[in-house]
Amino acid sequence: CGIVGYAGTAVANDILLKGLERLEYRGYDSAGIALVNSDGVHVYKEKGRIATLREKMEKADSGMVGIGHTRWATHGAPSQVNAHPHQSHSGRFTLVHNGVIENYQYVQREYLADVAMVSDTDTEIIVQLIEKFANEDGMTTEEAFRKTLGLLKGSYATALLDELNPETIYVGKNKSPLLIGLSDDVNVIASDAMAMLQVTNEFLEIMDGEMVIVTRDDVQIKNQEGDLLSRDSYIAEIDSTDIEKGTYPHFMLKEIEEQPFVMRNIITKYKDENENIKLDENIRQAVLDADRIYIIAAGTSFNAGLVGKEMIEKIAHIPVETHIASEFLYNMPILSQNPLFIFISQSGETADSRGVLVNVKELGHTTLTITNVPGSTLSREAEYTLHTYAGPEIAVASTKAYTAQIAVLAILSVETARAKGIEIDFDPMQQLGIAANAMDIFMEKKDELEQMARDYLSVTPNCFYIGRGMDYHVCMEASLKLKEISYIQAEGFAGGELKHGTIALIEEGTPVVGLATQESVHLNLRGNMKEVVARGANPLMISMEGFDEADDKIVIPRVNELFTPLVSVIPMQFIAYYAALHRGCDVDKPRNLAKSVTVE
Ligand code: G6P
Repeated sequence: CGIVGYAGTAVANDILLKGLERLEYRGYDSAGIALVNSDGVHVYKEKGRIATLREKMEKADSGMVGIGHTRWATHGAPSQVNAHPHQSHSGRFTLVHNGVIENYQYVQREYLADVAMVSDTDTEIIVQLIEKFANEDGMTTEEAFRKTLGLLKGSYATALLDELNPETIYVGKNKSPLLIGLSDDVNVIASDAMAMLQVTNEFLEIMDGEMVIVTRDDVQIKNQEGDLLSRDSYIAEIDSTDIEKGTYPHFMLKEIEEQPFVMRNIITKYKDENENIKLDENIRQAVLDADRIYIIAAGTSFNAGLVGKEMIEKIAHIPVETHIASEFLYNMPILSQNPLFIFISQSGETADSRGVLVNVKELGHTTLTITNVPGSTLSREAEYTLHTYAGPEIAVASTKAYTAQIAVLAILSVETARAKGIEIDFDPMQQLGIAANAMDIFMEKKDELEQMARDYLSVTPNCFYIGRGMDYHVCMEASLKLKEISYIQAEGFAGGELKHGTIALIEEGTPVVGLATQESVHLNLRGNMKEVVARGANPLMISMEGFDEADDKIVIPRVNELFTPLVSVIPMQFIAYYAALHRGCDVDKPRNLAKSVTVE
């Protein structure tokens, strides 16, 4: 979910709607806005996209103070009643919330047994409880809000309006991201700076446990005891043109095509004036000191972590384990003596990854975040950060962030190897340049890839991707890409493992994509493809120049074998994109998903 708020002198309606549109990547199950005008607080909320809310609000009265929310459903189905803002029974208090209140049932039982709930959400208890404290205990709104927040366990970025004090927005934060934007005669609230760049680029970070009282000419940050805190603001360096689609029909297509540029950008950013690799000495030392690296991530970033493991082990000779964050969080394996934790996260906000970060920091371990958003929670809270410089990624399905993460992992691996005195017979920057050129070739072959998507994936209910070693990791990402945007059931499989069960699913015409770019195993993979073809599969073979055969449908240009994921994933991304497009799916905003999942 994402939240916004505005207290100023301009009409807030469109500013809040635009803000929510920019946060839509965080969820789009429902959306709502509460606006204050001369006759009180008005709530508009709708199931579905912001566009639906926008239509509904065409005739809305204008307000100069307001709060808004876009939802990724956790507690309670996507519906109008479960949409935020939620209101207290009297209508005095109105609230939006991003996060999960883990003890909401306890709070409801203990404090609100006599209060009926309107929705199925965990959020509603917050606003009902504030009203209860304000009514029964005669507390001020600030006191009632503070007392309520003090009882909550879980995560929240929450904003509250009080009809009796309509110029003020009360804000609370714990674990969920939240920023306050500052400008002349206006102050704003946002889950992400992007949402409010239209108003300001000057922001204040809010820390866990803090409360903020926002009016158009004042921002007061307070700790749990109610003491006033001072804080320096910072300037968010985001170019707002980067968050527009331009002439592209979809952000995903734009972002796929940006990848060669991203590679070249990373090369520039990670070189110093003498053309040497630029890497913080402390980070190099942290990697050198590690006897084992634990990569923690979710989704596509996890898939990049699988490639990263292979790179670090092969190049820098340090053992690496790559873990799914949500699993590691509650099932920590036995750790080595001197572990280094690397968190890979495009957004830097994923709650599962952050949970692990908090735990391992408590244990005193060294932490490094690789992220596309340097000011993000994971970046701020880890000891070290490496930036992936991919530019804002808006499409829910991640593309350029994946290749950027791999490129940064490659640079880190080589720098570590050099520091250890391991001889490396290639220049990583040159290899990234070669990969960028190889990526470029596919930008010219879009029509062919579109035709392949039509031929193989127009009607099929399922699809398999098989590969070995590095190619297996890319197959995991390729299958995730296809399933998340086209809803075709897709599985990435180790080439040799398919025959141990999953081959039972191969029928006449089942598409199987084979990826073979690794010299040591490409013939084995071809053998695995023969096994499925013998059972009726429709094969789409992808190989690399040098190991290619006549029937291969796609041949990637020759690149260093450790860098093949950067190139082989490109046709996979295009095929997923076109498959989704031809099946009539919403490419940039697939159903049920959110780009940044800030709940566990
Ligand atoms: C969500 C997104 C995925 C993403 C994952 C991890 O589930 O839908 O595309 O890979 O989160 O996100 P992160 O920002 O941590 O890389």
